Amino acid sequence: MQLTLLSMQLTEQLMTSARAIELEEQYGAHNYHPIPVVLSRGEGVFVWDLEGKRYYDFLSAYSAVNQGHCHPRIVQALTEQASKLTLTSRAFHNDVLGEYEQFMTQLFGYDKLLPMNTGVEGGETAIKLARRWGYDVKGIEKNKAKIIFAEGNFWGRTLAAVSASTDPSSYTGFGPYMPGFDLVPYNDLDALEKALQDPNVAAFMVEPIQGEAGVVVPQEGYLSKVAALCKKYRVLFIADEVQTGIARTGKMLACDHENARPDILILGKALSGGILPVSAVFADNEIMMTIKPGEHGSTYGGNPLACKVAMAAMQVVLDEKLSENAERLGAILREELSNIKSDRVTLVRGKGLLNAIVIQEKNGVDAWDVCMLLKDNGLLAKPTHGDIIRFAPPLVITEEQLRECAAIIRRTIEGLDA
Ligand SMILES: Cc1ncc(COP(=O)(O)O)c(C=O)c1O
Repeated sequence: MQLTLLSMQLTEQLMTSARAIELEEQYGAHNYHPIPVVLSRGEGVFVWDLEGKRYYDFLSAYSAVNQGHCHPRIVQALTEQASKLTLTSRAFHNDVLGEYEQFMTQLFGYDKLLPMNTGVEGGETAIKLARRWGYDVKGIEKNKAKIIFAEGNFWGRTLAAVSASTDPSSYTGFGPYMPGFDLVPYNDLDALEKALQDPNVAAFMVEPIQGEAGVVVPQEGYLSKVAALCKKYRVLFIADEVQTGIARTGKMLACDHENARPDILILGKALSGGILPVSAVFADNEIMMTIKPGEHGSTYGGNPLACKVAMAAMQVVLDEKLSENAERLGAILREELSNIKSDRVTLVRGKGLLNAIVIQEKNGVDAWDVCMLLKDNGLLAKPTHGDIIRFAPPLVITEEQLRECAAIIRRTIEGLDA
């Protein structure tokens, strides 16, 4: 035991960023292409690499760390519960799950919650619920239910999720695909209305803003009209708020901007403030009660550790007014980004603190190169789809820090042509 500890300490001392990357390259699957920085510590809006260099985190683990890294109140909830009870499975009750379900359903205004772990499991759960509701309540003929998705969607990497994807790098080589999925263009209400007229359609699943597609913001009124159309054709409106939810866009839910209430709401990521994988699906009884014991679940879903962490994480969002902060600082960030004097930046878009710029390649310098330079200048961001850089800092960022970050971005981009 002592020998193992000693060797671990030695390894830690000898570990450099280069060595850490080498180990991943050699022993890990090559299913990601990270920015070459090795992080070993995080606090609030900052992360530090192994050599001690500090960076602003402008990705927030794809909007999971909305509350900032290692928020002390969430860490306290974790450590207190970790030494008490962590996992019972759902074979038995635990003394936190009910309290958590009450807290969350009251906060988001639904009859019931179904606890899962990852965002993609939340999506799978929502689709199972919609299919079952389609058969049991809407009366769709057995095995004929259809779910409509928007082109450009991203809801994870399972076979069902890639079956819904229009991104060749997500689905190529993984067929055969899930039947019963159809697509309509995003932000196109006419196409949606046409699709919803099919009586076999059980649900339309959509992101209020398409995050992975590059922070694609639909026209104002889109979500409320989606809700109305779904109601008109008796189709469930499923909102995938895994990335947009929990204060990221300036309201608790992105759907709140238009008072559009989804029939099924999926949350994940920031539900735990980046501490544990925690996701949840919300619906009213008519939908949720269609699933009976033994028909859906997860060993870790609803574990007491996750429940305590998620309650603390949500309390932080409320107490620290993170929605308001995201709304106010998001407007400042977009204004600052729009003032960058460079023809390399062709578009600035976003809502709250979920934003992106589009970078056109010039003299061999593309969005990836810009991210590498931003890293050198102390700010971490990652391109998506080649030419888009998402800017989504933890929502605990202050105005002073945000303006400093905007200055780093401006200096980096304007410096390319200086
Ligand atoms: C909108 C949306 N839904 C679902 C997911 C999947 O979440 P997870 O990676 O936790 O499975 C993501 C992940 O980026 C997402 O952005």
